[in-house]
Amino acid sequence: MTRVPGASTLAAMDLVLQRPRRLRRTDSIRRLVRETRLAAADLVWPLFVHGGAGDEPVASMPGVFRLSLDSFFRACERACGLGIPTVAVFPCIPREAKDGSGSHAFAESNLLFRALREAKKRFPDLALIADVALDPYTSHGHDGLLDGSGADVDNDATVEALSRLAVLEAAAGADIVAPSDMMDGRIGEIRRALDGAGFKSTAILSYAVKYRSAFYGPFRDAVGSKVGGDEIDKSSYQMDPANSREALREVALDIEQGADAVMVKPAGPYLDIIRAVREASHLPVAAYQVSGEYAQLHAAAERGWLDLGKTRDESLLAIKRAGADFILTYFAADVAAALRSR
Ligand code: PBG
Repeated sequence: MTRVPGASTLAAMDLVLQRPRRLRRTDSIRRLVRETRLAAADLVWPLFVHGGAGDEPVASMPGVFRLSLDSFFRACERACGLGIPTVAVFPCIPREAKDGSGSHAFAESNLLFRALREAKKRFPDLALIADVALDPYTSHGHDGLLDGSGADVDNDATVEALSRLAVLEAAAGADIVAPSDMMDGRIGEIRRALDGAGFKSTAILSYAVKYRSAFYGPFRDAVGSKVGGDEIDKSSYQMDPANSREALREVALDIEQGADAVMVKPAGPYLDIIRAVREASHLPVAAYQVSGEYAQLHAAAERGWLDLGKTRDESLLAIKRAGADFILTYFAADVAAALRSR
């Protein structure tokens, strides 16, 4: 080794007493002092299900498919085998079944309810999360009902519809309902509706801090909620990415109204928010590594610019280190499998 003149002088004079590198010297020491670890139990696997026979690849999300019901059940089985405690189910509804009020959301044997009912029966130990929002079912692609002018989402009418939807999801077998709509007052109303219908034990995971993010694009491809290929503007209900104090206000309101856990979404670009929410609350904090975060790692890896496995693991570790107790990620099965083989 060539000697760095300055360094040898330092050593000779014993000036460097603090040497953090001692604890980075070997793999065993690094493992000993590691502060954050990712485990299969930290993961929620979001799954897309459609009514067709085969699986359809989602172009902007390599490795992700709109699954037939049968494949969806196989994925549930895989989750159980890998030690992933929870899946989140997202239905893809054909355009013909959509309308202005999202009425198919309430149809007795719609795809989501069938998926939940059967999965609960076959895999009673797997926790099932169902999104509470109307965007899979509305022809305009918004999460709720439009007001008279058609220019904005009607808050209170939407909350009423979502409360009914949450009860139907609980009845179909959802263990956790996850309102992803960002309407005001929905957590309290959903809690009252669930309790009133006898679903006192159904938990509410609130998408408390959901930003109006451009990272949701591939998800909207996956569930087909883009209208004419355009991104729809949800900025009258989803949060402005510039704001962080507002995130704490949203979290406080949802806790007051009875949320059992709160979520920050997206995750990677919002680590400061995850940390702030962690410090502001004693509830479990979830983070959603969204479709665009998944897509960008895949896109760079396809070009040979990034190592997929390593950036995947690092991105999830960072989300956990920031304070998330659990993470919704399309990488869930891949990571859980990788953890198992280590
Ligand atoms: C809709 C919903 C969205 C996501 C989860 N639920 C999209 C949106 O708000 O437009 C995004 C998830 C992702 O991008 O992975 N209520």
